[in-house]
Amino acid sequence: MGKSYPLIPKKVPHIETKYRRIKTEIPVPESIPILEKLRTYEPLSMSGQPPVVWDHAKGVQVYDKYGNKWLDFSSGVLVTNAGHSAPLVLSEIKKYLEKPLLHNYCFPSEIRAALVEKIASVSPEPLKKVFLLTTGAEAVECAFKLARTYGKKTNKKVVISYEGSFHGRTLGAQMLGGLPGLKGWIIHPDPDVYYLPFPGEPRCKDKSFDFFERHIKELGIEPENVCAVISETYQGVSGALMPVEYAQQLRKWCDKNGALLIFDEIQAGFGRTGKMFGFQHYGIVPDIFCLGKGISSSLPVSAVVGKKEYMDLYEPGTMTSTHTGNPLCCAAALGSINAIEKYNLVENAAKMGDVLEEELTEIYKKFDCIQFLCGKGLVWGLQIGKKGTERPDPDTAFEIVGRCVEKGLLLFAPVGLGGGTIKINPPLIIQEDALREGCSVIREAIEEITG
Ligand SMILES: Cc1ncc(COP(=O)(O)O)c(C=O)c1O
Repeated sequence: MGKSYPLIPKKVPHIETKYRRIKTEIPVPESIPILEKLRTYEPLSMSGQPPVVWDHAKGVQVYDKYGNKWLDFSSGVLVTNAGHSAPLVLSEIKKYLEKPLLHNYCFPSEIRAALVEKIASVSPEPLKKVFLLTTGAEAVECAFKLARTYGKKTNKKVVISYEGSFHGRTLGAQMLGGLPGLKGWIIHPDPDVYYLPFPGEPRCKDKSFDFFERHIKELGIEPENVCAVISETYQGVSGALMPVEYAQQLRKWCDKNGALLIFDEIQAGFGRTGKMFGFQHYGIVPDIFCLGKGISSSLPVSAVVGKKEYMDLYEPGTMTSTHTGNPLCCAAALGSINAIEKYNLVENAAKMGDVLEEELTEIYKKFDCIQFLCGKGLVWGLQIGKKGTERPDPDTAFEIVGRCVEKGLLLFAPVGLGGGTIKINPPLIIQEDALREGCSVIREAIEEITG
């Protein structure tokens, strides 16, 4: 299913605007040895992204060392919420480089104390315990483990997840993911993990909570055996959110049946949807939530945040990690959260989200090759495939992304069911002129590809 972009330089029109500059063939002929080295020494799975060799990145722009400059609609992979190389992130990291303090395991540090306090301060009551980790998948594994540990005490083991969900690529996280291409590779799937249709997904016709209750009955699940329900706040593969009513009923159902409600906020957190956390659109509070990506706008940091009764299930020294709270990573996260607050980036995401929605809705209406448009704030998914049908068209999506990159707009390779979704998620610092310019590139690329 996955594809690699060819490493054959192609003559493309030169471009020079405020945000984009393309002055070479793409991929750049001089960059081919680097790209070939990567293809030789890395596993095939690493060759999925457009062949742009990043040299440095700042704000909403990514640069190579051959004079080209891209307007970034990828945020890496929804990481650089505060912008690439945000000054507050850089200055915090520099402090720890200069001390220097590069590692301190789980020994106490001032910066780790400052970060957990900060994360707790932006988290809703009563979710005030924070466990720092390194990657998103690790945070999901930890939340899964806490749910099962809690379940062991109360004799519950069923975990409900959703079809189409993505929670990372370590074994447990991949197993919780409900994409056929992820589940399909698990040799001994956990018999007590179930997947329900995600009600926000446009192909899911019944969006009522009755559907949840009917479905678990059909699957033979006894509600009292459920220890947790886990969901992304919006599904990364499409950009689709849960219907609000459904989310609120789910919260009540979990309370009634003593099940933990876990939200994976690894993509949604830190302002991406126009709220600090995506679950705030639902007016509910989970029992545990997972953070990653935009938490630091840069270095690898993730976190599990939850109620004391779940977070304190493990004795001192028995739930730790070698790199938990690495000082450089903590400094980056503190700088990023401070930047998000100082520059009102959550508000900017909501405001710019309206502009992006308007632009993408026009694009969606104009082209017969777009099936669905889903999203909120500064995260949207254009699902490519013939309008009125449901089968995705990954080849066209792949070509559109490639063409945008040739025109100086950086997107990552399509994702989602059948690889048909083009994700649009610029840094939250983006301004209206850049947003409209990027959308005009998408429009041009679709016109050229689909004739
Ligand atoms: C919703 C969600 N959960 C978990 C992950 C896994 O995060 P990581 O790649 O940092 O392990 C991702 C990554 O894309 C994600 O989008």
